[in-house]
Amino acid sequence: MARFSNGSDHVRRRALAVDSLAQVDVDALREKAFARTCRIMAGLDVVDVMAEIARPVPVGVLAEALGLPDVSADVTPVAAAYHPHVTPGADAEAALGRLVAQCGGPTELAAARIGLLVQACDATAGLIGNGLSASLTGKPAEQPVLRTRRRIGGEDVTVSLAGTPFGAGLRECPGSRHALALATGVLEALRGFRLTETETTWVSSPNLRMPAVLRVTRG
Ligand code: HEM
Repeated sequence: MARFSNGSDHVRRRALAVDSLAQVDVDALREKAFARTCRIMAGLDVVDVMAEIARPVPVGVLAEALGLPDVSADVTPVAAAYHPHVTPGADAEAALGRLVAQCGGPTELAAARIGLLVQACDATAGLIGNGLSASLTGKPAEQPVLRTRRRIGGEDVTVSLAGTPFGAGLRECPGSRHALALATGVLEALRGFRLTETETTWVSSPNLRMPAVLRVTRG
């Protein structure tokens, strides 16, 4: 995928990702994220927004917009294991195999589409979790992605994103408008809910700042 490629590989793979995203109707993402969140919330009394909504809804809606079935259950384990410094477990490998099959086999285009879903997963969940947490506690929203990893000359390198939530330059996030539309649709559907706990548990990652769990119930 583009994220861990360099030079002409990066240019070509990024173009595949950008072209796929260009075919997506951004306003429809917002509406579908709103509707899907309402459907999930309707059936439940107390909901952990991070597990039930913030990852599966944006990934499921984006997958559908890319012409795929709802593969969100397979994207979540792959998103937790795709960084070069992580050794994926058997579950993540099996999930990746299913994603490749759903995307039509092992091609660069399939990798680009899986890359979009994987990149969307945790980062957009962070946008939603931090936005909801800020609106319900009155504290300022935290930046979800603090640092990014790259692979340069076979080495893993960490780059600070201070002050640029969507990156900058050649690798600037091509999905920022999509992510904001998805997060806005979800957050609109969560109006009128309140937190069930006063303390927030944050994920234990040096690069991500977002709630691990965020339980809400109807206000
Ligand atoms: C629909 C949701 C999203 C999609 C489809 C998406 C897609 C992508 C892709 C394909 C890249 C790689 C670009 C490249 O290598 O040239 C990327 C990079 C990046 N994305 Fe996103 N993204 C999404 C959401 C987000 C969100 C919510 C954030 C932050 C709050 C974010 C922050 C970034 C950053 C900082 C980079 C640059 C990484 C680097 O420089 O190494 N993305 N994104």
